[in-house]
Amino acid sequence: MQKILITGAAGFIGYHLSRSLLEDGIIVFGVDNLNNYYDTDLKEQRLKRLKSFKNFSFKKIDLIDEKKLNNVFLNFNPSIVIHLAAQAGVRYSIENPKAYLDSNLIGFHNIIEQCRSCKIEKLIYASSSSIYGLNKKIPFSVNDKTDYPVSLYGATKKSNELVAHAYSHLYGLKTIGLRFFTVYGPWGRPDMAYFSFTKKIIEGRKIEVFNHGNMQRDFTYIDDIVDGIRNTIEKDFNFEIFNLGNSKSEDLMTMIRIIEKELNIKANIVFKDMQAGDVFKTYADIKKSNKMLKFKPKVSLQIGLKKTIDWYKSFIR
Ligand SMILES: NC(=O)c1ccc[n+]([C@@H]2O[C@H](COP(=O)([O-])OP(=O)(O)OC[C@H]3O[C@@H](n4cnc5c(N)ncnc54)[C@H](O)[C@@H]3O)[C@@H](O)[C@H]2O)c1
Repeated sequence: MQKILITGAAGFIGYHLSRSLLEDGIIVFGVDNLNNYYDTDLKEQRLKRLKSFKNFSFKKIDLIDEKKLNNVFLNFNPSIVIHLAAQAGVRYSIENPKAYLDSNLIGFHNIIEQCRSCKIEKLIYASSSSIYGLNKKIPFSVNDKTDYPVSLYGATKKSNELVAHAYSHLYGLKTIGLRFFTVYGPWGRPDMAYFSFTKKIIEGRKIEVFNHGNMQRDFTYIDDIVDGIRNTIEKDFNFEIFNLGNSKSEDLMTMIRIIEKELNIKANIVFKDMQAGDVFKTYADIKKSNKMLKFKPKVSLQIGLKKTIDWYKSFIR
């Protein structure tokens, strides 16, 4: 029976992935520091649901704490580690760079070092579409140059991929990096636009739309991301990087119009200039993921947002 350690298990993607594995009887050990970057109640509520599975264990740990991390690795002895814990968010990194250096650089290194010293079979870790930065070539391919990130967040994720390559090369640790593209869905992140727009529109508050709404994102529904991550678990690669995106770049305004329609409320929009650290467009080329992981996203933005909004309404009731 496989034993999987998932970092960031109380987070949005970590919660859905853990749940999906637990439902199939897989033994999961979750770690998370439950930090207050966004509403900790949401993290606690996700955790409560995971704790109802008898094959789930959890420890509140900060990735910075090498000793506690080492105890988890020694006691649980995972076959695979799926590393999702990180300080997320592009805009927050402008004001709070240290949070990114701690969690995403030192934290990542502590995880990969435990994987090496405890002879873990495979490390699967979250990268991000943010690493494409100033890349102009559309859609973004894993073969494109990613040397020009425009946010510290993107730079830390790029660094993770480089460190993973060195560890795979030097120590034979199998590593798979997954570049996620704007993941959304029920139990999502309050700091992301689809979530905060839904909340504010319901509350009759203004929403701020950057670059005057002239932005495009490859929105990827959470179930497709979970499928994509799960497809990597059985794969045997020494070092690989994949894009996990819907491979459809949608206008930000299309997303807002769908939310308005689902809520049956008109948004009060304040248009603003482009924000530092943001990119104009994201669009995933998923040919490699499709070929090597059989990754095939199924959920349209329309359907995915409807499910997300239905969840949100039941959550706030
Ligand atoms: N959601 C997206 O659109 C998206 C896009 C690209 C990449 N990613 C990456 O995917 C991963 C999961 O993202 P998410 O959307 O679930 O974010 P999330 O913030 O909901 O989850 C991350 C979890 O990690 C935990 N964490 C952060 N720093 C920690 C530390 N030092 N020690 C222990 N736990 C810590 C947080 O408490 C949180 O619960 C992250 O690595 C993120 O950078 C997400």
